[in-house]
Amino acid sequence: MKKMDFVLTADGSKTLYNAEIGECYHSKHGAVQESRHVFIKTGLEYYIQQTGALDVAILEVGFGTGLNFLQTADFMKDKSFRVNYVGIEGFPLPLTTIADTGYNETVDATVWSTYLDNYELALQKTAPVHERLQLTIDHTLLMDFQSDQQFDIVYFDAFAAVHQPEMWNDVALGHIARFVKPGGVFVTYAITGNLKRSMKSLGFSIEKAPGAPGKREMLRATKL
Ligand SMILES: C[S@@+](CC[C@H](N)C(=O)[O-])C[C@H]1O[C@@H](n2cnc3c(N)ncnc32)[C@H](O)[C@@H]1O
Repeated sequence: MKKMDFVLTADGSKTLYNAEIGECYHSKHGAVQESRHVFIKTGLEYYIQQTGALDVAILEVGFGTGLNFLQTADFMKDKSFRVNYVGIEGFPLPLTTIADTGYNETVDATVWSTYLDNYELALQKTAPVHERLQLTIDHTLLMDFQSDQQFDIVYFDAFAAVHQPEMWNDVALGHIARFVKPGGVFVTYAITGNLKRSMKSLGFSIEKAPGAPGKREMLRATKL
């Protein structure tokens, strides 16, 4: 993998630029804002409000720096539900890169330190981050991912379809859809005609939700 550089985004938080793909890990309009809006507010918070679930299984496609995991851990810290978080990541980042993201400034100090302490363990096996939160980072390519678990929420955070179309085709989306429980929610930062058609054909109902800064709309899909 080529060396990746940090880039400052519009909300003052950093992202990584992947030169091989030609894209950043997050929105240039604000990495943290995007994470909180797309995955926490429109995904996790919505799901908890709708279901009152006390146990939530989250599957992330493209774990990367773990920004979405950190925002999840920060959101749940003063609530009572438990989270089993599994991240799929084909190309895990070194701990030193994670430590340099500056995401410590966006979450509670304990959330940050327990993440750094458990990151490498989570790449080997399920890490008990605290009594209500466990993390597993599955070092695998999306299409090789297998699990006996079914998930309540999918955070779909692949690079954009123009750069990695193979992550957004019917085969890839169908592979992920198999791991979603009925009533489970799939959220992603983008929305296109192809994505809507694919998700409908995979048995999901489709909603256009307001997008993060820089994007008018995003997709939330619920498995029927
Ligand atoms: C848009 S970035 C995700 C950003 C991440 N959620 C974060 O907060 O840092 C896309 C991620 O997908 C990973 N990736 C790319 N191709 C993949 C594949 N075929 N299978 C699994 N992960 C892949 C990349 O390494 C990268 O970490």
